[in-house]
Amino acid sequence: MCVDFRCKASQRLCPILPILIDRACLRVRERCIFYRKGLPLKTATCVRKATEDDIDSIHSIISSYSEEGILLSRSIDDIGASLENFHVAEVDRDMAGVISFCDYGDHLKEVRSLAVRKNYLRRGIGSALLQKLITELTAANDPRIFVLTYVPAFFEKNGFAVISVDTLPEKIWKDCVNCARWDACSEIALEYRRR
Ligand SMILES: CC(C)(COP(=O)(O)OP(=O)(O)OC[C@H]1O[C@@H](n2cnc3c(N)ncnc32)[C@H](O)[C@@H]1OP(=O)(O)O)[C@@H](O)C(=O)NCCC(=O)NCCS
Repeated sequence: MCVDFRCKASQRLCPILPILIDRACLRVRERCIFYRKGLPLKTATCVRKATEDDIDSIHSIISSYSEEGILLSRSIDDIGASLENFHVAEVDRDMAGVISFCDYGDHLKEVRSLAVRKNYLRRGIGSALLQKLITELTAANDPRIFVLTYVPAFFEKNGFAVISVDTLPEKIWKDCVNCARWDACSEIALEYRRR
């Protein structure tokens, strides 16, 4: 594509134009490789605790998936009430993803509301959020950490292994028994195993 710009007319107008265009094309190609491999971008990405200023953005990211039936919906009030359990990922100060957890006590935690904004998918942001949460949850105790999900491959890539949901009675009695899909649940249960 760059070669098309190397016509004689443009070279006469500006002799260094082809060199500048080649350099720009190289930068675009490098960036595409970074995106495809999920390598850290050359932009400032950070995962941090959520604050009250983040509530609307968190709600918007989760809603974009809950409207498709992929995630459980969370109201603004619900997010505000459990804000201390949320982390967010920012790319150049733009909120790119969120994660939260449900606390069943020192022995058991559930990964919840993990979502990456669609224009930031497959760049390692979901993994960064999950690893940060795991680091925090395992810092003080050694709880079981589980998830119920439609994307088991993502969690397996991050150190989780498939388990039977029957090993999670706390989850069953808290949520599953009240769920409309009780008889036909297609979510897969996984537990964090990489220590
Ligand atoms: C699941 C989700 C959080 C992943 O976020 P992400 O930032 O795109 O994930 P990463 O870039 O860290 O992915 C790391 C690896 O996990 C795997 N992976 C990621 N998304 C996947 C998917 N949708 N299906 C299968 N494997 C997936 C891939 O192997 C990927 O590595 P690769 O890109 O080199 O192939 C994101 O797709 C999302 O927000 N989905 C909708 C909400 C949801 O399902 N959340 C989970 C609720 S429990």
